[in-house]
This record gives sequence, C-alpha cells and structure tokens, in this order.
Amino acid sequence: MTAGDSATLQNDMQDACFRPGLEGIPAVQSNIGHVDGQNGRLEYRGIPIEELADKSTFLETCYLLIWGKLPTQSELDAFKFEVNNHRRLKYRIRDMMKCFPANGHPMDALQSCAAALGLFYSRRALDDPEYIRAAVVRLLAKMPTMVATFNLMRKGHDWVMPRDDLGYAGNFLYMLNEKEPSAEAAHIFDVCLILHAEHTINASTFSARVTASTLTDPYGVIASAVGTLAGPLHGGANEEVLEMLEHIGTADRVAAYVDDCVTNRKKIMGFGHRVYKVKDPRAVILQKLAKEMFEKQGGTPHYELALKLETAVEERLGHKGIYPNVDFYSGLVYQHLGIPSDLFTPIFAMARVAGWLAHWKEQLGENRIFRPTQIYTGEHGLPYEEIAKR
Ligand code: CMC
Repeated sequence: MTAGDSATLQNDMQDACFRPGLEGIPAVQSNIGHVDGQNGRLEYRGIPIEELADKSTFLETCYLLIWGKLPTQSELDAFKFEVNNHRRLKYRIRDMMKCFPANGHPMDALQSCAAALGLFYSRRALDDPEYIRAAVVRLLAKMPTMVATFNLMRKGHDWVMPRDDLGYAGNFLYMLNEKEPSAEAAHIFDVCLILHAEHTINASTFSARVTASTLTDPYGVIASAVGTLAGPLHGGANEEVLEMLEHIGTADRVAAYVDDCVTNRKKIMGFGHRVYKVKDPRAVILQKLAKEMFEKQGGTPHYELALKLETAVEERLGHKGIYPNVDFYSGLVYQHLGIPSDLFTPIFAMARVAGWLAHWKEQLGENRIFRPTQIYTGEHGLPYEEIAKR
C-alpha cells in the first residue's frame, strides 16, 4: 500500500466514524452516573434518582457523587461543617462583583466568579488529596453565595452573610430572598438540587473533562463548564420554558403554537433529549413536586398550560421520542419559590457543580489529554496572494 493509499484509507475511516455532536461515541469511561434513555432511568453511583430524591439531601448526594459512596454520619457531619465554613466570599470577589453590569446575565457573573476563585487559591496541586478536597468544598460552598450575592448587588443591595444554622438549600434561599424560607420550600429546593446534580457526559460535563484533562486548576474547569451550560440547548432551556409559556399565554393557543413549531421546525423548549426517548425521570419527579406544591399553596396558570402543552407535544412528536426533559417543570417550581427566571440556569450550575467535580476527580485518576481528530474540508497548497492584489 502506498503512502497515498494509506492516507485515503485513514480519511475514509475517519469519514465513516464521524458523528455530528459525537452522538453515540463513548468519550470516557465513568462509574459516576448512568442514564438508560429507553426506559427513563437515571442512577448516581448505582442508586436510582427516585431513591435519592426521596431519601437523601443535596450535600449527601454531593458526597456520594464525588467520593463514590454514601457517607457515614460522622463523614457527613464533617463534610457539612467544612462546606458551612467556606460559604463566605472574599471581599475582593464581592468588590469585583460590584463592578459587574447590573443587566449582565447571572451565568456570566457566575462563570467570571468561578474563574476568579483560581486567582485566590493555590493552583494545580492535583496530586494532593487535601488540595482536591479543599477545592471541592470551596466550590460547593461558594457557588450559591456567588449566585445570591450577584442577585442582591444588581438590585443595589448589600450582600447577605450566610447563616450557619441553615442547610445548604435553606441558606441559599435565605441569602437570595433576604428572609428565612419555610422548611417545605427549603426541602423542595434541595430535591431540585439533587435532580440536577449529575447527568453523565453531557456538553458541560464533557467541557469540564476536556478542561480537566489539561491539568489546569479546578476553578478553570468549573468556569468552562458553567460557560457551556449557559446555552439555550443545554441549561439555558429552563429560563426559556417560562418565556415560552408566557408567550403562549392561554390554553386555547397551545395547539396552534405546537403546529407552528412542528411546521417550521422550531424547537419547543424543555422537550427532547439526546439520550432520553421517553419522559425524563427528573421531569416526572419535578412534576410531582410541582403538583403537590401547587395543590397545597395554590396553583399557577402556567402549570395548567404546561400540562396542556405536554399532551399536545406528545401527540405530535411522541413518535420521535420527544417528551419533557428536566427543564420543563423546574422553572415552574423555581418561579413559585420566588426565584427570578434568569437565575434558573445559575441554580442548575450550583447543583451540577457536584457532577462536574466528580468528573474532574475521575478524569485526574486516569488522565489523558483530550485531542480528537478532525476531517479537514478545506483546500491545499493555495498561493499566498499579496494584500494589494486581493
Ligand atoms: N421540539 C421540537 N422538535 C424537536 C425537539 C424539540 N424540543 N427536540 C428534538 N426535536 C426533533 C428535531 O427537530 C429532529 O427532528 P427531525 O429528525 O425530523 O429532523 C429530531 O427531534 C432530533 O432532534 P436533534 O436536534 O437532532 O436532537 P439532539 O439530540 O441533537 O438535541 C436537544 C437534543 C436537547 C438539544 C433538543 O431536543 C433540543 O433542542 N431541545 C430543546 C432545548 C432543551 O429543552 N434543552 C434542554 C435539554 S435537557 C437539559 C440539559 O441537557 O441541559
């Protein structure tokens, strides 16, 4: 075989392997999360999401994801204590946040703050378990404070000191709304965090692992993942779901809206998933949570509209495996908890930092830098044309 034949063969093989969006291509080996898209199942470290949503707490789930096992009581207490102790932000970070434009998107603020943490904490001691643990604790502890603080500062308010007597979810809602939430609201929010904590190798987790594979610091890893999560095809969809429901307005306009989307090939936000071909199990849990909450505390017209939209989309697109994903009902729950819609995606990031950190640790365990190949579709050997002649 000549060198030319070999190059052609290599190109043909690459062409045959090429899958836009890497669909179906395994990029990592992982034992953190598992998604069964045909049967609508999700597990964290082998435990079904329904069990965790029902029995665990967000911090315990973080421990499970990051350290690979459920903690004992003393391990959990120590972990909670450490996270509580690292919730505050350095005044320089708060000062930096004061300079952010009030109308900037909170995801951009969060990404900037996550990256800025890397300026303050010693970099790249990646073979030191203490450094790893400190980074995990710091990121889990500070992300909620960063989200809440940006929200306060853009309203011209001062930041609110975290309260050590409140749990992870309760303290976030307290810092955000400047008042203590009910135990029920804190519990519902905690379950939402559990549901968003991990979801295998999606775009943002892939981004985290690619960045991690260069052996940069964990703050850069999380900042890159936050940037990837921000887009409307990924975490940004939850914000757009409410906008869509507001745009539809009333139940009698649902059918026409779905018709228009199907005819004009527009994506309906909060529906569809690369892996799930049935209803996302997280959407099932969130819907139940929303239903119970609305039954107790009074409903919202958006919920009724959402139910109608789900039925209409199922009728028109169910045959393609298009069903509600996690983002469809989360916005309704957050809205009911008094959370502004542009914080929905930062809240997703606050939860998903657990999964990203677990993947960061796993990547470090058996690291090889990501360096895929490409199929070059350009030209070769063109002459350099002098600027005056172009
Ligand atoms: N509305 C209408 N049609 C859809 C939708 C949707 N939401 N999602 C997929 N389809 C159709 C699409 O038009 C295509 O049809 P056809 O085969 O006739 O061309 C087919 O289903 C496959 O779509 P795709 O875009 O190739 O699928 P994908 O796996 O590349 O994209 C997705 C997955 C989640 C990006 C997509 O379903 C989507 O854009 N959904 C809306 C945005 C959204 O809700 N995102 C949140 C995802 S879950 C949380 C997260 O991961 O962050």
